[in-house]
Amino acid sequence: MKKARMILDRDFSIGQIDKRIYGSFIEHLGRAVYGGIYEPGHPSADRNGFRRDVIELVRKLDVPIVRYPGGNFVSGFNWEDSIGPRGARPRRLDLAWATTETNEVGLHEFVQWAKDANTQVMYAVNLGSKGPDEARNVVEYANHRSGTFWSELRIKNGAKDPFGIKLWCLGNEMDGPWQMCQKTAYEYGRVANEAGKMMKWVDPSIELVACGSSGHTMPTFGEWEYRMLDECYDQADYVSIHRYYGNPTGDTPGFLARSMDMDAFIKTVVSICDAVGGKKHSKKKLNLSFDEWNVWYHSNAQDKEIVKQDKWGKALPLLEDIYNFEDALLVGSMLITMLRNADRVKVACMAQLVNVIAPIMTRNGGGAWAQTIYWPLLHASKYGRGTALRPVVESPTYDCSDYTDVPLLDATAVLEDDGSVTLFAVNRDMKDTIELTCDLRAFGKLQPAEHILLHHDDVKAINTEETPDNVSPRMGQHGRMDAGHFAISIPALSWNVIRFRKE
Ligand code: AHR
Repeated sequence: MKKARMILDRDFSIGQIDKRIYGSFIEHLGRAVYGGIYEPGHPSADRNGFRRDVIELVRKLDVPIVRYPGGNFVSGFNWEDSIGPRGARPRRLDLAWATTETNEVGLHEFVQWAKDANTQVMYAVNLGSKGPDEARNVVEYANHRSGTFWSELRIKNGAKDPFGIKLWCLGNEMDGPWQMCQKTAYEYGRVANEAGKMMKWVDPSIELVACGSSGHTMPTFGEWEYRMLDECYDQADYVSIHRYYGNPTGDTPGFLARSMDMDAFIKTVVSICDAVGGKKHSKKKLNLSFDEWNVWYHSNAQDKEIVKQDKWGKALPLLEDIYNFEDALLVGSMLITMLRNADRVKVACMAQLVNVIAPIMTRNGGGAWAQTIYWPLLHASKYGRGTALRPVVESPTYDCSDYTDVPLLDATAVLEDDGSVTLFAVNRDMKDTIELTCDLRAFGKLQPAEHILLHHDDVKAINTEETPDNVSPRMGQHGRMDAGHFAISIPALSWNVIRFRKE
């Protein structure tokens, strides 16, 4: 029998969890907007054309922020195209995804949708084909009360009150050759600094995310962060990091270990931020915005065909990954990794939210349902708020393709503000249950409240419109509490949420 041990103490904490780590992302890409959040004529559409069935699923996730409108899309986007009377908005080629953007949904519509979905907009400005002037104008349009050209135009377009957008991205993945107007680290750092400076002059209450590398496999990774931060450290509040994982070879143990890579990536970027801060003798600490993360690979081959057959089409079914059970396990471990780094990761966006590499899928004219990865995000968002604890975990380990000493039990814990404690745990073992004992004596009288379990016998199991509950959570066993020592069996290949209430 495999055994693991965990010790928790309220004084061993990582820090306060910023709820924005449970954010998400909607890009003008594929069917994220058109056919995803927006489908006038759909039976569930409201008077604005927003699908209520999708809004309900988003509200359940309780995502505090949604990044918008891109992604690669933003680097060729004129934000001015997306305001004013809909009939007069231009149709444009979107060079990022080789499709046509109609601008039917724009800034006002998205702000309205965000309100309905109970979330806040995180808005990205175009620092590719556009620059600081357009960036400061959109801040003025969105956030300045009245009496200027842009604020009065917003009012004329129907929004008397400012949108009050607080979090802004200074472009997207500007290091990548696939990006419109790719830049060197120095070029980007300069433009981000000047754009950021002007944006904050318009509204000093906003926060800014500077683009880190689009991934740590980029040849310029590290150098990019250092050079660009050397130019814009004073304006930036966060540095973005992006990471997607896949399992094209069917190596489940190796795939489930990928969160180790994520952890190392976070720690490296934190070190570079601190190195630049040190060099500048700055008292300011930069935190991270992990504003694109997920599993992404299932749809790669299919997307090439779609674009070949329908170049410049509208709302093509791109990046429609159908997620399986093992994807949900890795997403669980990625959330655990985020919690373990809660002292420095203050914003994160699962990429994306609807249809495009998303926890929520829809059929045009049909249903909306939760993919497998919906569940760990929902559980973490619901129960992972408060203080991230720093548990001592002893677990048996395994070796796989890229790593040695991978803990079979990946676990962490959160102390919620009402005194309840929640453990999040993934059992990475392919066949064995792990008997977990947990020392909770430091918390006084705690009672096991529930054990939510996500497990399926088939790692490739998926949810569909017809079988939306195939991979869905159920109640697990309660566990046994004895004088502050808790014991529970954690089934092989499972995501677990174990909750304790104060007596
Ligand atoms: O999320 C899909 C794409 O991945 C985004 O547009 C881009 O920023 C990243 O490369």
